[in-house]
Amino acid sequence: MLVFAHRGASGYAPENTIKAMLLALELGADAVELDVHSVEGELLVFHDRQLAHKSSGSGLIHRKSLQEVAELRVGGEVIPTLRQVLQALDHRLQVNIELKGIGCVAPFLKQYPSYLSELGYQPEQLLISSFNHPYLRQVKQQFGQAHVAPLLASIPEDLAACASTLDAVALHLDINFISHQLLADAHQRGLKVHVYTVDDIDDIRALKQLGVDGIFSNFPDKARQVLAEPST
Ligand code: G3P
Ligand code: MG
Repeated sequence: MLVFAHRGASGYAPENTIKAMLLALELGADAVELDVHSVEGELLVFHDRQLAHKSSGSGLIHRKSLQEVAELRVGGEVIPTLRQVLQALDHRLQVNIELKGIGCVAPFLKQYPSYLSELGYQPEQLLISSFNHPYLRQVKQQFGQAHVAPLLASIPEDLAACASTLDAVALHLDINFISHQLLADAHQRGLKVHVYTVDDIDDIRALKQLGVDGIFSNFPDKARQVLAEPST
């Protein structure tokens, strides 16, 4: 079972910052998950549309200039660009890039080739996910080698079919909707199932037992600890 540090090791460090990503590496995560928004054609790593609550700013992130965002802090840390995070991690972890913000697919499509050619990532090291499935369609249409995973916060009537249709490698599912049936359907289609967001130790144990392929946790060390327990 893969351990994705959700927004980096965000249980211990300010979420979606380089500090949280590097801590995830230290704590033994296999991968980091992060969210991106488009600002002046650049991709910034941040979760909310609104800057308030999670940063020292206010207003909508996509309406700001890069200069304005550069002044902001998240728990004392800067809001990094996706490129800066990829550079800092230097291929040491798999990176799940969640295309979150309105319009963020366009800059992503522009930059993706350089993550491979300039930054040296392999396509399988960059797992691209989104609740916006048409964004993932665009990614696959332009870059057939890209690894994509649709996000789901529901159980569709046709179970994992949407992921097959997108030629995805995995399905990213809200823990509230995990079921034997959905898991079996995904596996039968050759898809992995990664479940978010799992911080409770009993939930981690139950998902390990169920046979899911990965979990997203704000506390990647807890997940590591459970994985080290002998199987029952
Ligand atoms: O990618 C899994 C999870 O991050 C999706 O929800 O709101 O935490 O981005 P959210
Ligand atoms: Mg996310």
